[in-house]
Amino acid sequence: MTDLVVVGAGLYGLTVAERCASQHGMNVLVVDRRPHIGGNAYSSVDPDTGIEVHEYGAHLFHTSHEGVWEYVNRFTSFTDYVHRVYTTHRGEVFPMPINLGTINQFFRSALSPDAARALVAEQASELGGRAPQNLDEQGVSLVGRPLYDAFIRGYTAKQWQTDPRDLPASIISRLPVRYNYDNRYFNDTYEGLPTQGYTAWFERMVDHPRIEVRLGEDFLTPPGQVTKSTTVGQVPVVFTGAVDRYFDDAVGALSWRTLDFERDVVSTGDFQGTAVMNYADTDVPFTRILEFRHFHPERDYPTDRSVIVREFSRFAGRDDEPYYPVNATTDRERLSAYRELARAERGVHFGGRLGTYQYLDMHMAIASALTNVDQVAALRV
Ligand code: FAD
Ligand code: NA
Repeated sequence: MTDLVVVGAGLYGLTVAERCASQHGMNVLVVDRRPHIGGNAYSSVDPDTGIEVHEYGAHLFHTSHEGVWEYVNRFTSFTDYVHRVYTTHRGEVFPMPINLGTINQFFRSALSPDAARALVAEQASELGGRAPQNLDEQGVSLVGRPLYDAFIRGYTAKQWQTDPRDLPASIISRLPVRYNYDNRYFNDTYEGLPTQGYTAWFERMVDHPRIEVRLGEDFLTPPGQVTKSTTVGQVPVVFTGAVDRYFDDAVGALSWRTLDFERDVVSTGDFQGTAVMNYADTDVPFTRILEFRHFHPERDYPTDRSVIVREFSRFAGRDDEPYYPVNATTDRERLSAYRELARAERGVHFGGRLGTYQYLDMHMAIASALTNVDQVAALRV
C-alpha cells in the first residue's frame, strides 16, 4: 500500500520521501520521468576519462544552515573543495567575483580598500541620482561604467541573449564588490563536494525499505502506471514538476531560461587550471567553460586527458529543460493564478524549484522540504 506518491526525484522530492518513510513510517513511491534520481544535481562518470561530470551544469554544495548540514552529512561526507571562479576578458584572466584583485589588475593600480571604494563610488555616480531605467543603467549605478562594461555587460547579454538596455533593472538588485583580496565564491559556513559523488549520496537517501523508486515515468503524460489521472484523489501526492504543466498551462506558460552543454574530451591533463572559467565578452558565444577534474583534486584522474563542457544560455522553448525562472511581470501574474489553483488541488502538495517557480539551490530545496514534511505527512485526499 502506497501512502504517498512523490513526483520528481530531485533533492526536494528525495528529502520529503526520506523523511516521510523514516520519520512517519509512510510507504513512499517516488517517480521521475528521467532515467536517474537526483534531479538537476545528478552526476555521472564520463566514459572516456572516468571523471565525474555534473550532467546539468556545475553543482557546488554550500550552506550556512546547521540543520541542513547535519541532515546531508547522514548520507555523505564532503570534501574540503573551495569554489573559486575566474573570468576571461579581452585575452586577460581576472578573479571573480569583482574584488580588490580584479580592480587593481583592471585599472593597473595598487589601490587600498578605501581608495578603491572611493573610485567605484565616483564611477557609479554617472546617473547623478536618476533611477536606473534598465539593466545597463542599473549595472553602472552599482559598480560604475568601466567594471560593468568589462565584467557584467557582455556576460549578462549572453545569459539573456538580449541587450542589457532592453532588460529590466530588476534582474540585478546588487553586484557584490569585495574591497579585499578574498575571491572565495561562496560566503557560507559549509561548502564542499560529496566525497563519493552526487549519485552515491542520493542512492543512500532512497536506500530505505519503505521507499520505492520508479524511473522513466512521466506523471503528466500517459502511458504510465503512476499518472495524475490515476493517482490524484486516490493517494496524497507531492508534485515537484512544473506547476504550469500540471494545470495544462491553464493561464499560460511560465517562462524559463535553459542551458546547452557542449562536452569535449581534450588531450591534456589540465585544460584551464581551474573548475570554472567565465567568458565575459560577447565575441565568445559561450558563457563559461567547466573543467570537471578540478572539483576533485584529491582523486586519481588520468593525467593525459580531461573533460570540459562549454555552457551556452538561452530562453527555453517548450521542450527544453527549464533551469532559471525568467520572472517577468506576466510570469508573476500567472504564478499567482497557479498558486490559487495549487491551493485548491486537494491532496496535492507543490514543492521544489519547478513546483514553486523559484530558483532554489540544493540546500534551499532541502531546507524547504524539511520545513514542509509535517504538512505533507498530514495530506489527505
Ligand atoms: P529538480 O532537481 O529540478 O528535480 C525535479 C525532478 O522532477 C526532475 O528530476 C524532473 O525530471 C522531475 N519531473 C519534472 N516533471 C515531471 C513529471 N511530469 N513526471 C515525473 N517527473 C518529473 N544548487 C546548488 O546548491 N549549487 C549549485 O551550484 C547549483 N547549480 C545549479 C546549476 C543549474 C544549471 C541548475 C538548473 C540548478 C543548480 N542548482 C544548484 C540547483 C539544483 O540543481 C536543484 O535545482 C535544486 O536542488 C532543487 O531541486 P528540486 O528537487 O526542486 O528540482
Ligand atoms: Na494543495
